[in-house]
Amino acid sequence: MLPFHEAVKDDFTAVNQLIIDKLHSDVGLVENIGHYLVEAGGKRLRPLLVLLTANALGYQGKDHLSLAAIIEFIHTATLLHDDVVDMSSLRRGRPTANAQWGNAPSVLVGDFLYSRAFQMMVAIGNMDVMAILSDTTNIIAEGEVQQLVNAKDPNVNEENYFRVIDKKTAILFASACEVAAVACGASESQRKALSVYGRKLGVAFQLVDDALDYTGDAATLGKNVGDDLAEGKPTLPLIHAMRTGTPAQAELVANAIRNGDASQLPAILEIVQATGGMTYTLDCAKQQVEEAIAQLALLPDNRFTQAMKQLAEFSLARSF
Ligand code: IPE
Ligand code: IPE
Ligand code: MG
Ligand code: MG
Repeated sequence: MLPFHEAVKDDFTAVNQLIIDKLHSDVGLVENIGHYLVEAGGKRLRPLLVLLTANALGYQGKDHLSLAAIIEFIHTATLLHDDVVDMSSLRRGRPTANAQWGNAPSVLVGDFLYSRAFQMMVAIGNMDVMAILSDTTNIIAEGEVQQLVNAKDPNVNEENYFRVIDKKTAILFASACEVAAVACGASESQRKALSVYGRKLGVAFQLVDDALDYTGDAATLGKNVGDDLAEGKPTLPLIHAMRTGTPAQAELVANAIRNGDASQLPAILEIVQATGGMTYTLDCAKQQVEEAIAQLALLPDNRFTQAMKQLAEFSLARSF
């Protein structure tokens, strides 16, 4: 258990139980795949953000538990779909659902989880929450499509890359914090601060993820490294390497992107390191985390906001 879990231990246990309960389906395959993924764990950072935010603002109700489960369901649905699209074979230290059951069940169970999340939202009955989360799922889908369009294109620039990671990843972190703020009836300024905190944290999280796809270790990470190169994804370490490397280095990277050539991984990694692409990516993440933490000054100083600071720092230093 990561140290920032401790602050919301009981809530966290309740959310994990709720997740299991809400996976219920009369169709066996839905439950099998759902349990398979959920029991593999995952860091549960997004539901933790819901719980920490609600507790930081002194929330007394129960809706934060449902909101945390809803956010994790949306996240899990995107992972099911993402692993099909990325043709990934390892997730949370296990074969992906697509590797285990095939693409069709993965896509359909992803749909089940998305719609289960919306059923749970309706039960809460808060129109602001509905608005935030329906926009969020829509934007995530848009981000994943934009990324698909960018695949195998070495001319994708930094601005375009940041637009993609903002949509596919950061928005859900922002919404996790924002829906909790809404449930608490937080002031407009606190709601905004929490949304910005989550957004910047989410950008940093994806920057680190994109670095780890080159420098990480599969056993620790629970997913394979090199998947991004195999998909020809123009992520920031490569964009920086092409921009600052010699023409020969830039051409080698561009070709690997064009061909989605994972066999070039060692050569690409060497260029990325030599051109400072990894340092640059992690420096960008560090900047985002600092800006995220600065937003917490608008919230009460308590053990929950302290844990939110720790969670942001973990997202930067993480190896899994
Ligand atoms: C994976 O997210 C998807 C990205 C946005 C990079 P996590 O790394 O939070 O996945 P789990 O839930 O811990 O497995
Ligand atoms: C994950 O992006 C974003 C979403 C799931 C929406 P990645 O494709 O980089 O995530 P991993 O590396 O597969 O976890
Ligand atoms: Mg992926
Ligand atoms: Mg990745």
